Amino acid sequence: MSDPRARHQELIQEIEAHRHAYYERDAPLVSDAEYDALEAELRQIEAAFPELVTPDSPSQTVGGSVATGFASVSHRARMMSLDNAFSVDAVRAWWERVTRDAGQQRLVCEPKIDGLSISLTFDNGQLTRAVTRGDGTEGEDVTANVMTIRSLTHELTGAHVPALVEVRGEVYLPVAAFEALNEALVADGKPPYANPRNTAAGSLRQKDPAVTASRPLAITTYALGALEWAASGPDPRERSQLGTYEVLREWGLPVSDNARAANGIADVEDYVSGLEARRHDLIHEIDGVVIKVDDRDVQEELGATSRAPRWAIAYKFPPEEVHTVLTDIRVDVGRTGRVTPYGVMEPVVVAGSTVAFATLHNAHEVARKGVLIGDTVVLRKAGDVIPEIVGPVIAARTGNEVAWVMPTVCPSCGSALAEQKAGDKDLRCPNAQYCPAQIIDRIAFIGSRGALDIEMLGDKAAAALVESGVLANEAGLFELAERDLARVPLFVLERQDARTGRVAGDVSANGLKLLDNLAAARDRPLWRVVVSLSIRHVGPTASRALATAFGSMDAMRRASHEELAAVDGVGPVIAASVQEWFEVPWHAEIVERWTSSGVRMEDGRDQSVARTLEGLTVVATGSLTHFTRDSVTEAIVSRGGKAASSVSKHTDYVVVGANAGSKATKAEQLGVPILNEAQFEALLATGPLATNPDKKDG
Ligand code: IVH
Repeated sequence: MSDPRARHQELIQEIEAHRHAYYERDAPLVSDAEYDALEAELRQIEAAFPELVTPDSPSQTVGGSVATGFASVSHRARMMSLDNAFSVDAVRAWWERVTRDAGQQRLVCEPKIDGLSISLTFDNGQLTRAVTRGDGTEGEDVTANVMTIRSLTHELTGAHVPALVEVRGEVYLPVAAFEALNEALVADGKPPYANPRNTAAGSLRQKDPAVTASRPLAITTYALGALEWAASGPDPRERSQLGTYEVLREWGLPVSDNARAANGIADVEDYVSGLEARRHDLIHEIDGVVIKVDDRDVQEELGATSRAPRWAIAYKFPPEEVHTVLTDIRVDVGRTGRVTPYGVMEPVVVAGSTVAFATLHNAHEVARKGVLIGDTVVLRKAGDVIPEIVGPVIAARTGNEVAWVMPTVCPSCGSALAEQKAGDKDLRCPNAQYCPAQIIDRIAFIGSRGALDIEMLGDKAAAALVESGVLANEAGLFELAERDLARVPLFVLERQDARTGRVAGDVSANGLKLLDNLAAARDRPLWRVVVSLSIRHVGPTASRALATAFGSMDAMRRASHEELAAVDGVGPVIAASVQEWFEVPWHAEIVERWTSSGVRMEDGRDQSVARTLEGLTVVATGSLTHFTRDSVTEAIVSRGGKAASSVSKHTDYVVVGANAGSKATKAEQLGVPILNEAQFEALLATGPLATNPDKKDG
């Protein structure tokens, strides 16, 4: 829109509508990030046209309002919002203004809790009232509901209980409680809630406090509003922000354990990156860091605008939840024949990467999420977790959305899809031998890092080899020669002879590399060969167990069901799966032809590696400098140890690398010895005696 005034009006209307949906209906129409972008655009226009800044512009107001249904109550001291910073540069600009106006200051950094603000009034130490922020001047009386929050004291304790105080804080639903609530809903066949924040808001605004009481809400307090000390006198610690947290704690109120002093912007940056790395290990969701001037006299000096204090700023993390349009749902046929629906979306950036596809797992999941093709959907990518379509934004529906229907035949080969056994959630294409999609996926899997690790043999190469007719299936993989690749367009360099004008095809450098890599892959350890056969239920762990127990493919093939099932880590299901696999003639042919092509089908146990970890269970977490995820497992298992993925009391050691998350915390809680990378390397070399794990304090 070219006319800034018209755009300004339009933005105001949009923002008001979004605020209403967010604060009054607990059902946002857009993601937080999209909302923030609208506010930013509004401010930009107002900066260029200051006469557009009226007192009721959303840039000057805090957001909520007072809905009908609850009594409206005035706050004694105004409740404010916070100005946002979306970059460290914006925090730096704020800091420069602060130091210009008030000189160098100690700062406090703390988590920005993604909940809803509340004001608690204590009269002579008794909790008498709880009020939502509302429009900042008055809010809704939700006292009866807040009284049900178990961790909230109804009576302040300590030597300095004021005559009257308004304590400000954030009500939230812990992530674990949110997940449990959703699991129960789904088990009951009901739709899950979208996120903890809206669930908390909905829970707090229940008409029936008994419903609120059934939701394990919690609260963190972080500020004071009106304050009148009693005859016992003031608590001097209240004159600093960190001191205020000590006071709140002494009164018996919950405060964050993560508030820290910061001297200058470098400290703030360290805090921000540290907290962002741990953001999913906290008990509640956070959407950023609040940075506050510590000195309360200076806070008062700096004052506030109509909606936010000048002495604080909220640094917002890049969003992990965005909205986008689900343009299609398609299905993928995997290497085991499993048919998996996935969403195709308008590409969006979420948590730092562009996402256009997300798995929907199976038809039940699609039904459970209730998404229609054409829906605006909430897409979430939390940390390094794979992107997930959370659900539709119902309010954004136009009526043109259409329901998706699970196909009944395989999109690749046309076979009728079926459950493998009654009650399975997944449908499968039963045509493992001839279905091109399955063959391509199995071949690409053979090339993957977890199997034979063959560079140049990825999805594209596998598809090209099959689609050109050069490979009918994986049996011929190690027989490939240059003349075969000459028939695969992907691996051919077209070259026109300058003299004759004839076009000839030479195998490209990549094609030759593929042949070299295939030759080298013939010598991989037996367990990797077993993995690459795509036997159902036989992943890396079972493959290693089988390879160690039998030492050769032939011994494994001849083993009885009992012998197979007796192997530690194998059991009857895997044993049956292995036996069934070898009984199929075209499977047996794969092994025969690979053997004839020189693929190593037996392991001489590598005597050069000492069994230093025999009987020990080790968990590695975070990133290490000398190991990848795979090589760390290899290092543990080849020495007789067990590489586990989660920490329990049966864990002997936890190896902690950079940016380790909850596993490191869990290890500390359970008292499991923690090793750094150097100590881990010592353990590998000489076994447990060599290590002297870190004694963690606190
Ligand atoms: S201080 C006068 N500290 O964020 C300043 N607010 O986006 C009052 N919030 O309305 C706020 N965590 O509901 C403060 N550690 C924290 C916070 C926090 C979350 C909320 C609060 C505020 C909103 C602004």
